[in-house]
Amino acid sequence: MAVDLAGRLELPVPVVVAPMAGGPSTPALVTAAGAAGGLGFLAAGYRDAGQVREQVAQVRALTARPFGVNVFVPGSAAVDRVALDAYAARLAPVAERLGVKPGEPRWDDDDYAAKLDLLVAEPVPLVSFTFGCPAQVDVERLHRAGSLVAVTVTSPAEAVSAAEAGADAVCVQGAEPGAHRGSFHDDPAEPPGAGALPLFDLIPQVRATVPLPLLAAGGLMTGADIAAVLAAGASLAQLGTASVHRAHRPRPGQRLLPGVHRRGAGRLPARAPPDPATAHRGRRAGRRRGAAPVGRRGLAAHPPAPRGRADEHPRRGGGRGARAMST
Ligand SMILES: Cc1cc2nc3c(=O)[nH]c(=O)nc-3n(C[C@H](O)[C@H](O)[C@H](O)COP(=O)(O)O)c2cc1C
Repeated sequence: MAVDLAGRLELPVPVVVAPMAGGPSTPALVTAAGAAGGLGFLAAGYRDAGQVREQVAQVRALTARPFGVNVFVPGSAAVDRVALDAYAARLAPVAERLGVKPGEPRWDDDDYAAKLDLLVAEPVPLVSFTFGCPAQVDVERLHRAGSLVAVTVTSPAEAVSAAEAGADAVCVQGAEPGAHRGSFHDDPAEPPGAGALPLFDLIPQVRATVPLPLLAAGGLMTGADIAAVLAAGASLAQLGTASVHRAHRPRPGQRLLPGVHRRGAGRLPARAPPDPATAHRGRRAGRRRGAAPVGRRGLAAHPPAPRGRADEHPRRGGGRGARAMST
């Protein structure tokens, strides 16, 4: 029988503040999400297990509300160094303007095994995985520890893999989300965005394929958006970019990137207008596997990143313990 996610996670409000690696998902944001009746997430990506342990302890010191921890499933080490170096060269002027120095690209497994051991030893209510599917044996370990397990999926086929691994829920990520797109594979032979489905196409397809409860993510900015995904059959709505605007709201008129200003302050932005710069949903969505520099409007002013998330992130000033120069 499908898990009652909102019930198991004691959520009076069916909203999840998305895991956001690179800085935004602080213990304070997790606590605020819980206090508002929703579910907050720590983002374990780009941190080692010790840093995740510290953040989990901080959340526990701040709140007794349930929360989640999101883990990156390590991918392939194959990367196009020429494309990566060209991308770094294109980023250089932005880095200089922001007063940061891009790091050296490197691949590692993001301390995956140690994080799993940590989450088994010190369980949290929900563990979600992104960029791949955890092994069934690891899902079983987390279940035995008392955690629910969710897997981010971007297609019905990925949802099947998640169900076969024993996941309790899938986080259905449409073509619209901020930052990376959490698909399992990043095939250089495919054109960017190939097969990327908008959220409202993906939800019914995944529902028809697996009997798991859904968290829906991608482009949700308003109460009406939340109501719409719930009406479409999602159990919970997961919001990322909207939470970044709240937590890291720039001052009015502050420059984010050249030519990109925040319009006013004190309110969430309206849904992005369908102008050519932002009308990439679906068609160009595969590029989201690369970096979205400073939210939606920043993306329009910025070149797409090459494939190779793990290696490319340090180029953007991220990496363990570091705050990314961008998202
Ligand atoms: C700055 C930023 C960082 C993110 N980092 C992660 C992450 O570490 N793990 C993850 O599963 N999703 C990550 N995401 C994706 C979100 O979890 C969520 O799916 C997405 O933000 C939803 O789309 P929205 O930003 O349009 O609301 C990130 C999103 C943003 C904006």
